[in-house]
Amino acid sequence: MEICASVEDIRSVVAGYKRAGESVGLVTTMGALHEGHLTLMRRARADHDRVVATIFVNPTQFGEVADLAHYPSDDARDIDLLKGEGVDALFLPEVAVIYPPGDETIVETTELANKLHGKVRPGHFRGVATVVARLFNICLPDAAYFGEKDYQQLQVIRRMVRDLHFPLAIVGVPTVREPDGLAMSSRNVRLTEADRAAAVVLNRSLSEAERLVAGGTTVEALGDAIRAVIRSEPRATLRAVDIVAAETLTPVSGPVTGKIAIMLSAEFGSVLLIDQREIAP
Ligand code: PAJ
Repeated sequence: MEICASVEDIRSVVAGYKRAGESVGLVTTMGALHEGHLTLMRRARADHDRVVATIFVNPTQFGEVADLAHYPSDDARDIDLLKGEGVDALFLPEVAVIYPPGDETIVETTELANKLHGKVRPGHFRGVATVVARLFNICLPDAAYFGEKDYQQLQVIRRMVRDLHFPLAIVGVPTVREPDGLAMSSRNVRLTEADRAAAVVLNRSLSEAERLVAGGTTVEALGDAIRAVIRSEPRATLRAVDIVAAETLTPVSGPVTGKIAIMLSAEFGSVLLIDQREIAP
């Protein structure tokens, strides 16, 4: 596996692939890799001749400095995992490579970025869109793979690619879960044992929601039921329950008739977790 720290190096590796007529799939990550990330690598591996991964803990998408400082990181372990998946090249840059001194250009999806999770974490999706645009322009892939777990992030990136005419395809991959249903996340290692056990309440509330939709329900009753399940777990501090139309993320009301997305965020101790589910009646 080629490991590149500079824009010039990763560009010349990818240019070599392109000269050989090979297609390139990209998976962007912040490291602390788990099965969720590795599933994206496998999808990219199945679809393309070459897989490029990036590891970059992007400072501009963290609201609180403490959250950034506590983000787990183990490059040696991550590199071994990527080699195990047959990833061809890893781009592992320093902050000053992605954000050169004097840098002042940002990318923002103005509507999508500032609702839902974006309201709780101001500036977060601007940071995500800005870094992903830069990584796309550096790595020049044919396609890039993103998890549905970060549902709003996926929609923000799809919109950015469409609006700015980026010449690549975006592929969404379903959420990978632990055996007990907790969505895999690099943040999970920061949970205490008690909070780790409590955190399954998010998936439990989504399963309950699925059951209610199957029997026929309204958005209002659904919201109440989800909030009741999460509030029954004393270790969870509920931040948001949003029930929206699946693609546009606009709020819905009344009887559930079309495809909806339920987006949850809750804190367990100091760890903010998110989960989501798309449900069709
Ligand atoms: P990170 O949280 O490291 O996630 C990298 C990719 O893995 C994202 O596309 C995310 O949706 C996906 N992913 C994480 N957990 C998953 C799971 N349980 N199942 C399926 N996919 C999962 O998301 C980011 O990094 C950053 O915001 C990034 C896009 C790299 C920009 O900095």
